[in-house]
Amino acid sequence: MTNFDLLIKNVDIITMNDGNMIIENGFIGVADKKICFVSDKLPDDVSFKKEIDGNGKIAMPGFVNAHSHSAMTLMRNYADDIALEAWLFDNIFPIEAKLTDKDVYWGTMLGIAEMLKSGVTAFADMYMFMDEVARAVTETGIKANLCKSPVQFFEGGELKRLDRSQGTVDYYNQYHNSADGRIKVFVEIHSTYMFNEKTLTNAAALAKQLNTGIHIHLLETATEVQSSKRDYGMTSIEICKKTGVLDVPVLAAHCVHLTDSDLEIMKEMNCSISHNPTSNLKLGSGIARVPEMLKLGINVCLGTDGASSNNNLNMFEEMNLAALIHKGVAMDPQLMKADTILKMGTSNGASAIGFTDTGKIAEGLKADIILIDTDKPHFYPKNNPLSTLVYSAQASDVDTVIVDGRILMQNREFTAIDEEKIKYEVHALSKRLLGR
Ligand code: NI
Repeated sequence: MTNFDLLIKNVDIITMNDGNMIIENGFIGVADKKICFVSDKLPDDVSFKKEIDGNGKIAMPGFVNAHSHSAMTLMRNYADDIALEAWLFDNIFPIEAKLTDKDVYWGTMLGIAEMLKSGVTAFADMYMFMDEVARAVTETGIKANLCKSPVQFFEGGELKRLDRSQGTVDYYNQYHNSADGRIKVFVEIHSTYMFNEKTLTNAAALAKQLNTGIHIHLLETATEVQSSKRDYGMTSIEICKKTGVLDVPVLAAHCVHLTDSDLEIMKEMNCSISHNPTSNLKLGSGIARVPEMLKLGINVCLGTDGASSNNNLNMFEEMNLAALIHKGVAMDPQLMKADTILKMGTSNGASAIGFTDTGKIAEGLKADIILIDTDKPHFYPKNNPLSTLVYSAQASDVDTVIVDGRILMQNREFTAIDEEKIKYEVHALSKRLLGR
């Protein structure tokens, strides 16, 4: 008799494996943080330390939020209905100049609590005070790709672009593969408009030296198209290629305004693109050419961006919007089918942020699993489960969240996170930050 850690039984499983995408009324076994079997039958001679009855639920891989700034939850519903440049430079940067390490810690804790409650088991984060972000990830049990900028932009209120490469090296050495492998570290390039040719070249060389990837905002707005032409005489994608940025694994957020040639370069250089439809719509940035990216075979994943340009961290909304807006724009309901959208929200995201051992429910992969409670009116009658998840499900339907085999939430209750304390701390510090 083999004794495993956990059994999820009688559950409908969306594996995300091509070939056997759906297993009805199946069983998932977990041992040593990994999935040890997935089957429509319970293996003989096995016992379990803990069992979860998945009757009335769907099991699927946890979502990967491929682009976020978690601590920006602190600025949720603070500066809305404004274009990106005015939003960022006139509203967000002045608040960010006041942020302390404690603010970022609690803002990140709030973001992680929100993400776990909506079924996110891994996320990519770009922000400041990244030690605090690593601390929050380590404490909560979630997984994350964290990035660290080798450039300090401002000193004394002036744009100076100071070299902080050593800080990035130190951060990488301290945190990459830390928290039992739950943290990966990339090099941050905020954007080509905040960097210049020299700092882009240096950041690319640094990523190569560390043998890691780069997380960057690319071509989010039409304004960036103009500024790139003015500053570099070429598109942001072209300057990235020229400076070596695309020679390493790249996680590029947005990519709304790509030329045909930019798209070809992204494909040729094997870049991953995080599509962030809510943020792009809310900031009036435009709509990315996602169907064309997918047709070219580019790895496209989904992200929420920060909660101050969204204004939540809800991957169900991103899936739903990504499924709908491209159909509407192209007047083609056959684009962006449910299985494609689910891959973008899970396995595509996992590989984009450097976790190659998760994103699907398959034997040998890490047990990053969520259960969706479908015993609710908006799920009846029970037809296509893929459509169910993309078109009907809500974040509040996530019942259970498991990361590396550890149950972080069950029956919508956290097992190790003090949600009341997080809300209390964030409420208190937001008064100082936002002056209300
Ligand atoms: Ni962003």
